[in-house]
Amino acid sequence: MSSNGTITSETFVRHLSHGVLRTLADFLDPYDAWKKVLMDIPNGATGQPRFSQLHLRRFEGLLSRGGSPTVELLHDWGTTNCTVGELVEILLRHRLYAPAGVLLPDAVRRPAQQESRPPPACQETAVLVGPTSGTDDTGFCNFSYHDLMRMTGNWDDRSVSVGGNRLGEGGFGIVYRGLLNSTHVAVKKLSSVDDICAEELRIQFDQEVQALKTLKHENLVNMVGFSSDGNHPCLVYAYMPNGSLLDRLACLDNTPPLSWHRRCLISTGTAKGLEYLHSNHHVHRDVKSANILLDEKFIPKVSDFGLTRASAKRSSSTVMTEKIVGTTAYMAPEALRGEITPKSDVFSFGVVLLEILSGLPPVDESRETKFIMDLRDEVEEEEMDLDEFVDKKMEDRDLTAAEKVFSLASQCLSDRKNRRPPMKGVLTDLQDAVKTD
Ligand SMILES: Nc1ncnc2c1ncn2[C@@H]1O[C@H](COP(=O)(O)OP(=O)(O)O)[C@@H](O)[C@H]1O
Ligand SMILES: [Mg+2]
Repeated sequence: MSSNGTITSETFVRHLSHGVLRTLADFLDPYDAWKKVLMDIPNGATGQPRFSQLHLRRFEGLLSRGGSPTVELLHDWGTTNCTVGELVEILLRHRLYAPAGVLLPDAVRRPAQQESRPPPACQETAVLVGPTSGTDDTGFCNFSYHDLMRMTGNWDDRSVSVGGNRLGEGGFGIVYRGLLNSTHVAVKKLSSVDDICAEELRIQFDQEVQALKTLKHENLVNMVGFSSDGNHPCLVYAYMPNGSLLDRLACLDNTPPLSWHRRCLISTGTAKGLEYLHSNHHVHRDVKSANILLDEKFIPKVSDFGLTRASAKRSSSTVMTEKIVGTTAYMAPEALRGEITPKSDVFSFGVVLLEILSGLPPVDESRETKFIMDLRDEVEEEEMDLDEFVDKKMEDRDLTAAEKVFSLASQCLSDRKNRRPPMKGVLTDLQDAVKTD
């Protein structure tokens, strides 16, 4: 650094203060951005890459011990008298504008389309703009934990209905309503529960951010940003004023029952969202009515991609996992055995269709027949009339259409995955049955 403490392109990386290194680490440690830098660092003498896969693994190992691969990497490379100019060049090559701007603000000239200013409460980040996305304008915001705390009334745990900020709770933490520039957002604060350790949570977090970054569709919930500087990683989503399909079917908080027409639009919209996921080689793995959120116009938005996995190269491929994820009342037999296939989402969607038809929750301990799937058997075996099964709370009930939807749900719920239709087929059959588009 020069005598007055400013950083220039001639400054040696080894002269950067610990504070500056920490700031760089905050940008480069998440999402493996540091790996891109590492792979681009040449060996001064040979011009070949300086670091090998072995180095990479060593730096990677630091993360689980609370260390920073970025700081270690810069310490190591710093011993060669490399300069800030060289580092910034690499950062810019990978569009890592934010950390480059920390070092040399003048070197960061944004492309024209990025000139629109981000909202004041969030800081634009280029860290998430990876070469795979191909665009620079994902519009993600990197919030500070402190900002999110302010936006949610210090994580006010009282329910929204009594003036608090809590919207709900799921397997990975609590969801709060927050205010961002006078618009509501939903903030999911992830925390370790039961047997889920911090590292697993971090994996969950990274997966969700990565998935939402590239997957955009009118029937998928939109992610506004994230925060990873506090004790709890957080995800910020567009707020869905009509809550979840589960809650609306149950008329929670005395909301009026959903009409048949609306239910038809919700089922086709959801099928479109899932079909989009599958055609992009993603298996959702936790399809359920609590993960179908409704916007102000009741347009359904599939949420929670934390459990999705890029299902290898082809959407028809099957991957095994040791960790079973999902919600058992919705899970296909093979999913319970740890298999990952888009056909399991089709099964879970079949359960959702039964909920939409009947207005009943998938499991109800107080019901004579606890599981909705067993009720389906009763209808199939003619122990129960379809008329009896279909929700009477709909004034515009259409039993002919309901019968077609029921038969489609039954196909989705086949125990044998190969007998289930693919999501694309489900969508066309559904559109046919309910005559919406
Ligand atoms: N974007 C959102 N807008 C409004 N409510 C939401 C939003 N995201 C989640 N919720 C509410 O919070 C609840 C908990 O969400 P989540 O943590 O995803 O758990 P789960 O999906 O297991 O129910 C949801 O069921 C829903 O009622
Ligand atoms: Mg959810």
